[in-house]
Amino acid sequence: MIIAIDGPAGAGKGTLAARLAAHYGYHYLDTGLLYRAVGHLMAERGLDLDDPATAGNVARALDPSHLAEGELRGREAGERASRVAVHPEVRSALVDFQRAFALRKPGAVLDGRDIGTAICPEADVKLYVTASPEVRARRRTDELNAKGRDVDYGRILAEIRERDERDAGRASAPLRMAADAVLLDTSALDIEGVFRAALAIIDAKRAEIAANAP
Ligand code: CDP
Repeated sequence: MIIAIDGPAGAGKGTLAARLAAHYGYHYLDTGLLYRAVGHLMAERGLDLDDPATAGNVARALDPSHLAEGELRGREAGERASRVAVHPEVRSALVDFQRAFALRKPGAVLDGRDIGTAICPEADVKLYVTASPEVRARRRTDELNAKGRDVDYGRILAEIRERDERDAGRASAPLRMAADAVLLDTSALDIEGVFRAALAIIDAKRAEIAANAP
């Protein structure tokens, strides 16, 4: 069973994906971490994030141990991730790892931008999780403020809009909803509401698969 969850920054994909994986006992991969690690390693080594060949080399040499760094979760790493993620060289270097992960038994949940469209077009369930830029910026601001970081809503909103534009506007695997994905607009839902809605969709699919099994 493969569950693909895509959507823009701050839509709540990660929280949802982790909960679903725990609920069903599936493996979970936050694919954003791969791009974050590439950007982080490049910055650490003083390399040019906008150079496709160098970024591709770093992506090919990426090791799962690079994904454990705490710093990868921060805003700066997210910004760097979206810069290196535009390079086709980086994206293709990360495909095999993601596809192999998706095939792990008994199932896998992957969240990102192009899971349902490019990495796992054959996924059993595809969710496209989104919310208005204002709601996403409000959530991000509250989350950061709760961690004691004094951030400005206006600035976070501007960053979210900029990231949306870069992710949806790039030529290589841009952020878009797969034709067969289910749209989950979380603007008016809390975490529990989103989780319940996703469970209903996935349980229906699992029942269908079980009914068609030989
Ligand atoms: O949750 P948030 O959007 O802040 O971060 P993320 O999911 O870790 O993604 C960071 C950046 O990596 C995104 O803005 C995308 O540019 C890129 N990314 C991608 O291109 N493809 C993916 N499958 C996952 C992330």
